[in-house]
Amino acid sequence: MTGLVTVDTEKRLVLVSGRAHPELAEDVAAELGIQLVPTAAYDFANGEIYTRFGESVRGCDAFVLQSHASPINKWIMEHLLMVDALRRASVKTITVVAPFLGYARQDKKHRGREPISARLVCDLFATAGADRIVSVDLHTSQIQGFFSGPVDHLWAQPILVEYVRSRVDVSNVTVVSPDAGRIRVAEQWADKLGGGPLAFVHKTRDIRSPNKAVANRVVGDVEGRTCVLVDDLIDTGGTIVEAVRVLLAAGAKDVIVAATHGVLSDPASERLQSCGAREVVITDTLPIPDEHKFDNLTVLSIAPTLARAIREVFDDGSVTSLFDGNA
Ligand code: R5P
Repeated sequence: MTGLVTVDTEKRLVLVSGRAHPELAEDVAAELGIQLVPTAAYDFANGEIYTRFGESVRGCDAFVLQSHASPINKWIMEHLLMVDALRRASVKTITVVAPFLGYARQDKKHRGREPISARLVCDLFATAGADRIVSVDLHTSQIQGFFSGPVDHLWAQPILVEYVRSRVDVSNVTVVSPDAGRIRVAEQWADKLGGGPLAFVHKTRDIRSPNKAVANRVVGDVEGRTCVLVDDLIDTGGTIVEAVRVLLAAGAKDVIVAATHGVLSDPASERLQSCGAREVVITDTLPIPDEHKFDNLTVLSIAPTLARAIREVFDDGSVTSLFDGNA
C-alpha cells in the first residue's frame, strides 16, 4: 500500500432517522448492531418542522435515513433539515440514505419549461451539507451524476431474484419489461433466472396527465409461460395492471410482478389485488401501511442490503463487492 497510513481508532458511525419510515431505520440499526440516535421531531402549527438530535454527534460519520414516502415533500424537507442539523453539529461526514429517492422519475425535460426535479433534489442535499448519497434502484442510473459527491446505487435485484426463483419453474419463465425503457434491467433479470426469453410491453403515456399509462400489446414469447414482470416502482399500479392485462390476453400462463419500491398510491392496492397476477413482490424501501396490504402481496426486507452498504462505506470497503462486482 502506498501513501501515509494512520490507524484511526476514533471513528464512530451513527445512524439517525426521520419520521417517514422508522421501522426500516430500526431494522437497519439492528442489522448493524447499534441504536438509532435519539431524535426529537415535531411539526409547528403552520407545518414547519423542528428536529434535534438528543446526543452529541461531533466527529461522527453520520448516516441519515429517510425514505421519501408520502407526504413526499414533507419528508424530503425533514431529511434536508436533519442534514443541516448534522452539519452544524460538527459531524465528520454526512451520508444521506434515501432508499427511495423522491422525484427520481422526473430526471429529464420531456417538453420546454419543465424542471429537472431529480437534479434539484440532489442539489438541495448538496447545499444542506451531504457528502454522499446511498439509494436503491434509482429510476435511471444517470441520476448518480446529478450529485457531485459519491452516490452508492444499491440494487434490490439480488433479494427479489432469490425470492422469485423459489416461486417459479425457471425453465418456463419469460421476463417482461413493462415498457421499452426497462429492457436492460429485464435482461439482467433473465440472466439471473436461467437465461429465458425476454418480452416487453409497448406502453404509451399522455405526458400531460401523470399516472396514466396504456399498454398496447406485448412483444415477445409469453404464451403458456410464467411471466415475471419487473419494474422499479409501483405508484398507482396503472402500468403494472395494464401490462398484466395484455400478458394474460396474449396467453401467459401466469404473472408474477416484482418491483423495488411500493409507492402504492390509491387505488394501487385495489387494482393489484384484482388484476390477475399470481403474486406481487416488493421490498420495504417504503412503508406499507396495513390498509395498503393485500392477499397476494409479498414484502421483502431491504434492511440487510442497506446495512451492508453502510458498513462498507464506513469501513472504506467496497459497495460494488456486495453485487458480485457489478454495481
Ligand atoms: C415509469 O417509467 C416507472 O418505471 C413506473 O412504471 C411508473 O412510474 C409506475 O407508475 P404507475 O404505477 O402509477 O403506473
